[in-house]
Amino acid sequence: MTAGKESTVAEGQKTRVAVNGYGVIGKRVAAAVMRQDDMSLSGVSDVVTDWRARIVTRNGFALFGATGEHAEVMRVAGLDVAGTLGDLLAQADVVVDCTPKHVAAKNVDEYRRRGLKFILQGGEKHAATGHSFVAEANYATAIGRDATRVVSCNTTSVVRTLTALKRAGLLRRARGTLLRRATDPWESHDSGIMNTLVPEPDIPSHQGPDAQTVDPDLDVVTMAVKVPETLAHLHYWTVQMTRQASKEEVLAAFETSSRIALIRIDEGLVALNSVKELMADRGRPHDNLYEVALWADMLRVQGDELFYAYMVDNQAIVIPETIDAIRALTGTVQDAATSIARTNAALGIEAALV
Ligand SMILES: NC(=O)c1ccc[n+]([C@@H]2O[C@H](COP(=O)([O-])OP(=O)(O)OC[C@H]3O[C@@H](n4cnc5c(N)ncnc54)[C@H](O)[C@@H]3O)[C@@H](O)[C@H]2O)c1
Repeated sequence: MTAGKESTVAEGQKTRVAVNGYGVIGKRVAAAVMRQDDMSLSGVSDVVTDWRARIVTRNGFALFGATGEHAEVMRVAGLDVAGTLGDLLAQADVVVDCTPKHVAAKNVDEYRRRGLKFILQGGEKHAATGHSFVAEANYATAIGRDATRVVSCNTTSVVRTLTALKRAGLLRRARGTLLRRATDPWESHDSGIMNTLVPEPDIPSHQGPDAQTVDPDLDVVTMAVKVPETLAHLHYWTVQMTRQASKEEVLAAFETSSRIALIRIDEGLVALNSVKELMADRGRPHDNLYEVALWADMLRVQGDELFYAYMVDNQAIVIPETIDAIRALTGTVQDAATSIARTNAALGIEAALV
């Protein structure tokens, strides 16, 4: 461990991580923590008593009830409960709150009262932590902080891609249209749309302004439409560059990000389902695509204008960012590149998808 002066975890010790909420994001965060050699999972807390809670202990994790009442109901349901959220927090250096939108914000007072570092997810507002995180853009400003918010799936992709163009000095302004998946696969019996497309009522949609909570200098406008599928989001972008540039220069700029994967239609990666199938064939847990998958052969440059499209696996993209945010808050790794490389290696994020 490259512990620096500000580290709140003793040299040589693993960072103890609690996960509150074992849903789409929480279960993936827990699995990712288990893969890090500098972290241990103290346990997970939730409110459910069905298979979703039962799988926690089957996976070998300690299960805690969100409150005493929840812990009791879990016990009555025959679950092996280790205690309450309070007990879990007492055993952690940092808590990653993955409860549903607006629930996490209510837990903030308790985390602060305990002096416990905490990470919120993108459903919460920037103001809840005062800091919004994307590893390649602003890791340094999160080091030693009490809290940060890992921005939403769409916003993470926007910041990753625009930061790569900005680093290369190519970004003037960016305008994007986001085709958003209607619901998550495990909930598709319950919600989602069919046979229609639902435009978001406001322009800009919230993702552009949200990207500016990470980097206020980004000149970005987004529009969004909900589409009747569950696999992933698809973004189309028009970027005005600072100057004329070649396609090769643009691709080289995107390649400076280890979390943007260039893919090709002419190699058979023709749609969201093909890319997900590839992730399954690679043996990624939950078929996770952690990278922004950007079509290199589709990308076009016309003078100083740039056009491209990419896929965002909404369930997976924020997982590596969350792992990096843990290292930044605890100060156990003092520079972004080192943390990103460690996370990438542990999660199997490599130079190419195939
Ligand atoms: N699903 C996505 O694609 C996605 C992507 C990026 C960010 N996010 C954000 O991540 C956060 C979590 O979203 P999700 O999709 O994983 O939600 P989810 O509904 O899949 O999971 C939430 C989990 O929290 C549990 N829970 C509910 N109330 C609780 C409480 N009071 N205490 C403890 N546990 C409780 C639920 O039982 C469930 O297991 C939200 O902020 C969301 O906006 C979601």
